[in-house]
Amino acid sequence: MRIVLMGPPGVGKGTQAVRLARRLGLVHVATGDILRDAMRGGTALGDKVREFVEDGRLVPDDLMGALIGERLKNPDAADGFVLDGFPRTEEQVATLDRVLGFVGVRVDRIIVLRAPDAEIVRRLAGRRVCPNCKAVFHVDNKPPRTAGTCDDCGEVLMRRKDDAEEVVLGRLAVFARQTEPAIRIYRERGLVEDVDSVGEPGEVAERLWNALASERLG
Ligand code: AP5
Ligand code: MG
Repeated sequence: MRIVLMGPPGVGKGTQAVRLARRLGLVHVATGDILRDAMRGGTALGDKVREFVEDGRLVPDDLMGALIGERLKNPDAADGFVLDGFPRTEEQVATLDRVLGFVGVRVDRIIVLRAPDAEIVRRLAGRRVCPNCKAVFHVDNKPPRTAGTCDDCGEVLMRRKDDAEEVVLGRLAVFARQTEPAIRIYRERGLVEDVDSVGEPGEVAERLWNALASERLG
């Protein structure tokens, strides 16, 4: 299966994508993680994208198109994937169509996660991330066993620069302006399942699973 998770910043795409990918035995491809790895590694790509990512603006479509084309060529994505963070513009929808079209496949399902803005701001204010293994925590909702330390690999947890409240508000505006039109294209194709992302992560995961299952049965 080729599944895309879409939705505003902080809605829980990463949290749900990890669970779903594990459940389906698929690779989780997160463009935000790829960009942050490049920034952390000080690569040429990292230098090019840093300003965009830290300011909460979208990285230009041509750069993202090249990046996703390369990533999806990897054999681990040949039989399916859970894509998180791409596409997020109308042009990126066309790019993904083209990249998959080369190998004669298409996206099967788009899951759009939704939560109120106030909940999103609260989630991102408390988020802590592991720069090494990418595990995601929250100081209240999902605290690590030892404060400030990753449960999975022991790395020191950090706050993302783009989780500052003023940047989050900008990211929400970018989502409304640039990503909602991309979702609309998929909706017109009848591929979208809307999933309410308010509630315990396990509860949201079940809702998401049922949305996919109803599609498979029906
Ligand atoms: P990206 O990394 O994709 O960020 P995003 O889309 O803004 O989303 P987040 O990762 O912030 O949130 P999420 O939905 O994954 O939520 P999470 O599960 O962590 O992109 C970052 C930047 O990279 C972009 O701004 C852009 O600059 C660039 N970029 C990336 N892709 C691009 C593209 N295609 N084109 C151009 N530029 C691109 O959860 C958030 C918090 O909430 C966590 O603390 C979590 O523990 C908690 N939480 C999760 N679920 C629940 C729940 N059910 N209840 C309570 N708390 C919860
Ligand atoms: Mg994420």
